[in-house]
Order: sequence, then C-alpha cells, then structure tokens
Amino acid sequence: MSVLLEVRDLDAVYHTPEGPVRAVDGVDLTVGRGEVLGIVGESGSGKTTLAMSLMRLIKPPGRILGGSVMLDGEDLFRLRRSQMPARRGRDLALIPQSAMHALNPVIPVDRQVAEAITAHQTGRKANRKSALHAARERLEEVGIPPERHRAYPHELSGGMRQRCVVAMAVANRPKLIIADEPVSGLDVVVQARILRLISTLRESHGLSMILVSHDLPTVARVCDRIAVMYAGRIVEVGGSGAVFENPLHPYTRALVEAIPRMHSPGQTPQPIPGDPPDLHDLPSGCNFRPRCPRAFSDCAEVDPSLEEVEPGRRAACLLHKDERR
Ligand SMILES: Nc1ncnc2c1ncn2[C@@H]1O[C@H](COP(=O)(O)OP(=O)(O)OP(=O)(O)O)[C@@H](O)[C@H]1O
Ligand SMILES: [Mg+2]
Repeated sequence: MSVLLEVRDLDAVYHTPEGPVRAVDGVDLTVGRGEVLGIVGESGSGKTTLAMSLMRLIKPPGRILGGSVMLDGEDLFRLRRSQMPARRGRDLALIPQSAMHALNPVIPVDRQVAEAITAHQTGRKANRKSALHAARERLEEVGIPPERHRAYPHELSGGMRQRCVVAMAVANRPKLIIADEPVSGLDVVVQARILRLISTLRESHGLSMILVSHDLPTVARVCDRIAVMYAGRIVEVGGSGAVFENPLHPYTRALVEAIPRMHSPGQTPQPIPGDPPDLHDLPSGCNFRPRCPRAFSDCAEVDPSLEEVEPGRRAACLLHKDERR
C-alpha cells in the first residue's frame, strides 16, 4: 500500500499560565492510501490537538513547535499559511469533535454543503446553481432525503446533522478525512449507522481516514490499524486485530480490560488505575509508569521510544525492549 500521509516528529504545545503543555510530543505516523487509521486514548491524551495540528488549525495558546506532515508528497508545514485553505476540504478535510458547532444555524444545510463546494472553485465565478445541485447529490449520498435538504440544522436530528457534516467533509472528495470523535454524543444505533456510512464512503471513493475516538472497540471494528496515545505520545501502533487482541503496551492492555463485555459476564471490566497524567508534571522515565502494573525499576529512569517489536507492530515499553535482546 502506498503512503498518503507521513507525519514525522510532530510537536505541539499549549502555553498556559502554569507553563507549557506538550500535548503532542514527537508523534510519528503514516496512513496508506485507502487506509483507516484509528487514534485512541483517554480524554486529554492529545488526540484533538494532533488532529488540529495536521490541519494546521491549532489556535493560540496552542502552537506547532516542529515536525513535518507530508501529504501526497507535499509538506503541509512548509506551505504558506495562505495556501492552507485551498488544501483543506480539497486534499484533507476535518470532521470536528463538536460536529453540531460545525454547522451554521441560520443557513439551510444544502446551501452549507454548496458553500463547502464553491469555496474550492477558483477561476471564473463559481456556479452557485451547479454547486447547489452537487450539494443535494452529496446529501442524498449520506442518506438525507430530498425533502430535508432545505432544512435548518435545528430542524434535524443529531444523526441527520452529523450526516450533513460528513457530506460537507466529503463534498470535494478529499484524499484524507480526519474524523475527531465523529459519533460521540449520538445514541448507539445512530453511531452504528454513521460509522457504516463512513465505511461506505471510504470504499466508494477510496478515501483514507484518521478516525479519532476514545472508544477502542469502535476503532478496532472500523480501522485497519490503531495508534494508541498517552500523554501526547503514541505508545503503541499496529494492526487493529493484533492491538485489540494481544496488546503490547500495558496501557493498551488496560484500555482493553476496561471495556465492558456483555458476552462474558464473568469478566468484570477493570477501570484503569490511577489518574490520567498531568501534562504539567509528568513523571520521570515512562509517562505511564505510575499507573502501570508491570513497571520495574528501569521504568523510572528510561523514557522508552516507540520501537518495532514485531513486523508491523511498534510499542514504547521497556518490557519489549528486553524481549528483543
Ligand atoms: N486551548 C487549550 N489551552 C490549554 N491547554 C489545552 C487547550 N486545549 C487542550 N489543552 C490541553 O492539551 C491536552 C490535550 O488535549 P486534547 O483536547 O488534544 O485531548 P483529547 O485527547 O482530544 O481529549 P478528549 O478525548 O477529551 O477530546 C490536555 O491536557 C488539555 O488540557
Ligand atoms: Mg478531543
């Protein structure tokens, strides 16, 4: 599979009154053409900051400190700021975490999708009528019936609104979609429908996608590969099945053990011990050490880097460093 997106050593920081917070810390990742990469981690692990950094949409007090983001051979971080809007929507599109806020309450949804289309029509005056026609096709494609195309967002259900946001994101047939918690806040049945819709669009248009979620089972079901984030770092990455069924990193294992399992009532879900890390005051050595059931003395000294443990699987944990020896 050829590589579409290659992120190298991405750092992003928030300058807060209590000091800088490194919300994305040396992140490396790749997404292949047609591939769906899941990013999971607890609240505050830096998933949204990573997503916004890739779009170059991070706002003060947040700032990108360094790294490179190659999309189809072009380094997005080397483009002038003024060149980014043309890339957004057309090359890479975001489904933001609060999708409700992505819609304008006073504009009918078909016109909003049309605006997403005309925003990228350059040269001669964009053709509004054909854009509106195309917008309605996009809305049909995501399952909004024609009689609802002229509705205002508040006239639609949460699931319908989310479909509109998806329609806007795919309106210009981007190469990569970054979906930040696209189904959180929706009920389970609607979540399943939206995820199915996203999978269908991905297949029909050969899209690549980054799917951000705190819900590991969802990500494992939908994604080809999973990257697990903890305190701004990727601590494990590998094929979905492998990561979910045989986690290498103790944090991934803890995420798996925290999942309620309806079909095996004997197994009670185990909440992850301790508190999520305070990014202002990270421990020495491994960030996960204070919560890790398998920590040993070296873990306080050595900050483990993400290294290959098996072909296609990487983890940042000294347990596996020993195995390799
Ligand atoms: N505007 C901001 N100012 C200061 N710190 C911020 C800001 N936004 C995020 N942070 C900090 O950056 C860290 C990562 O936040 P981020 O929103 O990226 O996490 P997340 O993984 O998306 O969480 P969630 O699952 O809750 O959406 C957190 O510690 C958060 O407190
Ligand atoms: Mg988030």
